Amino acid sequence: MGAMSTAADNILASQLAGIRLASPLVVASGIFGPDYAELVPGLPGVGAVITKTITREPRSGNKEPRVVETRAGILNAIGLQNPGVHTFIAREIPKYRRLDIPVIASIAGNTIEDYRTCATLLASLDEVRGIELNVSCPNVKNGVMFGSDACMLEELVGIVKGCMGGKPLIVKLTPNVTDIAVPARAAIDGGANAISLINTLHGMAIDVKTQRPILGNRVGGYSGIGVHPVAVYLVHRCYTAVCRERFIPILGLGGVATAEDALELLLAGATCVGVGTALFRTPNVCATIAAGIATYLRDRCEESVTAIIGKAAV
Ligand SMILES: Cc1cc2nc3c(=O)[nH]c(=O)nc-3n(C[C@H](O)[C@H](O)[C@H](O)COP(=O)(O)O)c2cc1C
Repeated sequence: MGAMSTAADNILASQLAGIRLASPLVVASGIFGPDYAELVPGLPGVGAVITKTITREPRSGNKEPRVVETRAGILNAIGLQNPGVHTFIAREIPKYRRLDIPVIASIAGNTIEDYRTCATLLASLDEVRGIELNVSCPNVKNGVMFGSDACMLEELVGIVKGCMGGKPLIVKLTPNVTDIAVPARAAIDGGANAISLINTLHGMAIDVKTQRPILGNRVGGYSGIGVHPVAVYLVHRCYTAVCRERFIPILGLGGVATAEDALELLLAGATCVGVGTALFRTPNVCATIAAGIATYLRDRCEESVTAIIGKAAV
C-alpha cells in the first residue's frame, strides 16, 4: 500500500473518480502536509493524500486558541491558514513529489473567481491528480455559503469543472444542512465526479470558570470519534438518495479511527474512506485500519474491497 505496495495488498486496490489507489484510505484535508512522509515513512495503508485547503490569497487563520480537545473528538477553528495558491505551488507542491501516491488539492474561495483561479493553476500541475472543492468550512466568513445553497453550488461546480483540464473534481459537503442529499444532487448536476463528506459539524466549547468561549473564533468545527455515527448516516443518505443511481463515488469520512469505522462507511456506500483527527493521535493509524479491512475481506472470501461498497444500504 502506498509506496510499500505488494501483490498481497491488491484486495484493497480502489479507485476514486478514475484515480487509482492502492488502498481506499485517504488522508483528509487539513491534517498533514508533505512532511507526513517523514513522520510515517512509506505511508503504509494510505491510498492518497488531500492537501490543506488553499485559497487564492494568503490567510493567516483565526485567533488562538484554535483547537480544543473534547471528550469524543476535537473542535478546531484554524480558519484556513495557508500561504495562498501562488506560494503553495512554488514552495509546497514540489515537496509532495516524494510522497509517491496520488495527491488531491483542496481549494476554497469567497467568490467564483477565487475558485476558478485556484482550480486552473492547481489542476494544470502534474503533481495534482484531482481537486477537492471545499464548500463546507465552518470556520471562515462565507465558508459554507456555496455548500448550503444548491443553485450557487451547481453553478460553481459547473464553472470549476471547466477549469480542470479533464481531471476529476470532488466536492466536499457540509453536514450542517437540513438534508445533505440536496447539495449532493446539486454538486452532481453541476458535474462533480465524486463527493466527499463530512466536513466538521458546527460546535462550541465554553470555559465555565471564565464564562467565555474557549476558541479564539468562539465557534468551531467538531471532528473525531464523536461525529462518526453522523458521518455513517449522511454517507448512507447520499448513497441511497443520489449517488447509487448516478454512479457517483463517495469519499466518506468522519471519526474514523479503526477498521470497523472504515468498514461502516464502506458498507453505507462510500467508495473510499478519509482519515483525519485520528491521525493526530496515531500518525500511522492507516496501516492498522488497512490491515483490519484486508483481514475482514479475506475472512468473508471477498476478492476486493469494492465488493462491499453500499452493502448495508437497504
Ligand atoms: C485541525 C483540522 C483542520 C482541518 N482543515 C481542513 C481543511 O483545511 N479543509 C477541509 O476541507 N477540511 C478540513 N478539516 C476537516 C477534515 O478534513 C474532516 O473532514 C473532518 O475533520 C472529519 O473527519 P475526522 O473526524 O476523521 O477528522 C480539518 C479538520 C481538522 C481537525
